[in-house]
Amino acid sequence: MTAPASADHNTSLMEKIVALTKRRGFIFQSSELYGGINGAWDYGPMGVLLKRNVKDAWWRAMVHEREDIVGLDSAILMHPMVWKASGHVDGFSDPMIDCKTCKKRFRADDMDGAICGQKPSKSPLNCGLAQLTEPRNFNLMFETFLGPISDSSAKTFLRPETAQGIFANFANVTSTTRVKVPFGIAQVGKSFRNEINPRNFTFRSREFEQMEMEFFCAPGTDDEWFKKWVEIRQRWYTDLGVSSGKLRLREHDKLAHYSKATTDIEYLFPFGWGELEGIANRTDFDLRQHQRGIRTVGKWDGGDLSAVELAPEDAEYQKGKLSYFDDEKKQRYIPYVIEPAAGADRATLAFLCDAYAEDSAPDAKGQEETRVVLRLHPRLAPIKAAILPLMRKDGHPERARKIYDDLKRRFFVDYDESAAIGKRYRRQDEIGTPLCITVDYDTIKDGTVTVRDRDTMQQIRVSEDKLRGLLEEKLGY
Ligand code: GAP
Repeated sequence: MTAPASADHNTSLMEKIVALTKRRGFIFQSSELYGGINGAWDYGPMGVLLKRNVKDAWWRAMVHEREDIVGLDSAILMHPMVWKASGHVDGFSDPMIDCKTCKKRFRADDMDGAICGQKPSKSPLNCGLAQLTEPRNFNLMFETFLGPISDSSAKTFLRPETAQGIFANFANVTSTTRVKVPFGIAQVGKSFRNEINPRNFTFRSREFEQMEMEFFCAPGTDDEWFKKWVEIRQRWYTDLGVSSGKLRLREHDKLAHYSKATTDIEYLFPFGWGELEGIANRTDFDLRQHQRGIRTVGKWDGGDLSAVELAPEDAEYQKGKLSYFDDEKKQRYIPYVIEPAAGADRATLAFLCDAYAEDSAPDAKGQEETRVVLRLHPRLAPIKAAILPLMRKDGHPERARKIYDDLKRRFFVDYDESAAIGKRYRRQDEIGTPLCITVDYDTIKDGTVTVRDRDTMQQIRVSEDKLRGLLEEKLGY
């Protein structure tokens, strides 16, 4: 039995992962040049590829390979009444406590983990200096203004979730496509939350990307669909290589106001279990709320939205604008919604943490040294293969470039002639490149190259004209 990892081990593992992501151009702190800002991250040349592959894998599984789900890309800026109807204006808040001494603000439900502004080794509960206020609710939505006048009628919000753009387009999608309940609408995009305590690297950020799907089904079929979606979504992570032992499901016993059931998929990060995705049975709450919202908007005078009362529900709400006519049942109703809501940044971080490994490999003198390797699933790896001329002479670069030019039409490949071959292998291992193709003196003689496997470090010799087929097989295309 392996001993449980100690807290120190996990802290240093997270530090190593953060250092690797910086060293190899995956993730940088936003505005680092200016001292950085909290809760925002930039994805560098490797990170943008990795995150794009994560989002593509989600899109492929959720839209491309399914007949019953269509895609959407709705605007980040929406009519402010959307956020009143959805409940975000009144309810999307965290209780917070201010310290009058150090002027820091803390989440009331996380005071033990909070760090005092003057004594960073202490929490505000035991620093001996704190003068704490009573908890007050702090809305997490970022406010912004449409146009040049900054008054309440111009105020709107950066969306805190992509889901509402889907609900707001429900009628557009049903009236312009051939979708029939049960069906889903999926979208990937940025969301913004003014988190009080952004932390754990990209895990809790103020600007992040979500991958959300709203699956509309007939009332009464929702429990079954909920179960199905929990299974489908959990499998998505394991199919992409996440260790099943580091995934778990957590059923909520305290439910959000819109939810009949919620289960989170959690991953065991080096800093502990964290939510990757929530699957919620949102019932018919959102579509009904938006029907109330559109009844309210004409009467709104542009004043403070939190003082506005939403119009009551029409007695005939089941036949409202956001209802659906079921041809089979010959009945009109408001569909129920099952929502798998995932975070692209959290999934990317989980894939990175899960892929990080250290083993040993011989250096240039044959001495064993520690090798850092990202064992990413080939579908997620930023670069699928690196083409490496052994020497920068004797025709090697020209031959390697020819292979690169051919393969790049089909795969995302890299050409690298910059250092000793061992160094170049290590660099590709650290960014998770599954295969390295080396052009050497035998290539010039007989047209064969070596193909080195990232995980086993085994090398095989294959003829150049077999490379495309070999890559397709090894990368699972
Ligand atoms: N529409 C439902 C919804 O937004 P959520 O649980 O608040 O539900 C869904 O968010 C997912 O979005 C989370 O499971 C997480 O992966 C991601 N997410 C939420 N807040 C985040 C944050 N501050 N930073 C990074 N990802 C976040």
